Amino acid sequence: MTVRAMPSPLRYDLMAWIASRGRERVFRERQVDLARIALGEAVLDVGCGTGTLAIAAARRVGEQGVVHGVDPSPELVARARKKARRAGVEVAFTVAPGEKLPLAGSSFDVVLSTLVFHHLSHDALRASVAEIRRVLKPGGRMLAVDIGGPQDDRRTMHAASGRQVAFDLAGIASRLPRLGLEEIESGPVESGMRRLENLHYVLAEAA
Ligand SMILES: C[S@@+](CC[C@H](N)C(=O)[O-])C[C@H]1O[C@@H](n2cnc3c(N)ncnc32)[C@H](O)[C@@H]1O
Repeated sequence: MTVRAMPSPLRYDLMAWIASRGRERVFRERQVDLARIALGEAVLDVGCGTGTLAIAAARRVGEQGVVHGVDPSPELVARARKKARRAGVEVAFTVAPGEKLPLAGSSFDVVLSTLVFHHLSHDALRASVAEIRRVLKPGGRMLAVDIGGPQDDRRTMHAASGRQVAFDLAGIASRLPRLGLEEIESGPVESGMRRLENLHYVLAEAA
């Protein structure tokens, strides 16, 4: 399995559309279900990219809820803002890295992060998970979806270094308790996307 360095925002969405044969929405709704997102909740998507998951979350939380997306790429955030406007949902988007979230502590019921962790260096990943824990309310939930599973499915392109690396979300999940997050459940999740079929998820709770 290979994930290459990020293409342009429009190309990213086009590739997702082609890879999912127009069914990306099914995958995003599955993630919203796995995170157990409910009406009225406050949700953050870290590394939100072009905002497709944040928009699905906004539909689920409804007008009483709040959704925020952060991503370090201004181009991706610009496209995410445009898509949310077009979809007719309220999502606040901010340009920021996961390692330094410009958001108040204990302010979210749910934090999502999809296909982001494998891009991060060891230190950035640790800092990002600590930040996710900080912004979660006590009892709040983190849903991370990323590469994992059988040995052959774990190879991916590390965007920062351009090197092929083996990434396994299970390795991260085992370190969560040290960062104040207790695993609720984990397992495989079908993305429906060619070359990224066998993703894994971990749902954890802020202790
Ligand atoms: C493969 S894309 C996934 C985007 C989106 N989560 C999705 O599911 O479509 C990886 C994303 O990670 C973001 N990213 C890279 N470094 C990051 C960091 N330090 N903190 C947060 N996001 C980061 C990229 O800008 C990009 O949007």
